[in-house]
Amino acid sequence: NSVENGSFTWSSPSNIALVKYWGKKEHQIPGNPSISFTLDSCKTTTILSFSKKDNQDDYSFDIFLDGDKKDDFKPKIETFFKRIEVYLPFLKAYHFKIETSNTFPHSSGIASSASGMSALALCLMSIEKSLIESDTSLKTAERFLNDDFFIQKASFLARLGSGSACRSLEGDLVVWGKHGEIDGSSDLFGIKYPFEVHKNFKNYQDTVLLVDKGEKQVSSTVGHNLMHGHPFAQKRFKQAHRNLSSLISVFKNGDLDTFIGIVESEALTLHAMMMTSMPYFILMKPNTLEIINKIWTFRQATNSKICFTLDAGANVHVLYPESECEQVCEFIKNELVVFCQKGQYINDKIGFGAKQL
Ligand code: PMV
Repeated sequence: NSVENGSFTWSSPSNIALVKYWGKKEHQIPGNPSISFTLDSCKTTTILSFSKKDNQDDYSFDIFLDGDKKDDFKPKIETFFKRIEVYLPFLKAYHFKIETSNTFPHSSGIASSASGMSALALCLMSIEKSLIESDTSLKTAERFLNDDFFIQKASFLARLGSGSACRSLEGDLVVWGKHGEIDGSSDLFGIKYPFEVHKNFKNYQDTVLLVDKGEKQVSSTVGHNLMHGHPFAQKRFKQAHRNLSSLISVFKNGDLDTFIGIVESEALTLHAMMMTSMPYFILMKPNTLEIINKIWTFRQATNSKICFTLDAGANVHVLYPESECEQVCEFIKNELVVFCQKGQYINDKIGFGAKQL
């Protein structure tokens, strides 16, 4: 092929699941469908430079985070390359330089795997696209990769890097995993939520409270695997299907009370699965519970539609409608920030997906 070298840059956001993905089958097939809000300012920017090398014996790449060489990221990328090589046969033909940076502080406990893997998958798809476009052995009509296919395949590849990464390419709501009521939904890639969304959810806010920035004691890979043979796994997968069905009506009619019930229950159920696996583990910290209780008290006292959700960690995502920004931000500053490590938090909101720069 004629493409000797070049570089592509993509920026891709993080996402926060409303119905959680927890438990998977082989090949990163989720145990249940999930849905997430795409975030806006929490994102990763990746520059992927590539140059043709003499042999095709093995992968060759260097990876940098904020300018520092990160050899400890190599095994994860190597695993990713092995999984996707059948879909991107050029991986051994080039030397890659992967330069990545996050808008959120690293080791903040915010998972950079979703934004990082989706940004890398998109950069790789840009190479694939330029290879196809410049391949003179193809007919002119075949030298064209349409945008929908591009995003779908990038999401498919991102899933093989980190499951939840397949939900980070588009916005504002993304579904991953086959669900009977959602046409086009797939276990293999994320799709934009295809139905009506009430104006109550427009510009929905997510303030991420950084409760614990330490390394997780249990990785999400280990956590997913503990769903195999978990006593509640099958019931949990069914519940996720039901919760996603209920959310379809909620997004249509704007019923924020039902929304709160589903989202908070999903967060606690995720952690309940961790606490009831064997071995069991707890990722919440005392301050996680302090924050949850403060949110409940505030909601009762004010009729606010504030609620929380959690990832696989101690941090709390505080979700609320845009119309409540002022009062909720005051509450966060006055009552919740004391529970954050070094008082750190990030104001984010619903976003619209990845961008090529
Ligand atoms: O993408 P992974 O394998 O790191 O799994 C993350 C799963 C949760 O963040 C806990 C839930 C979700 O659906 O994002």
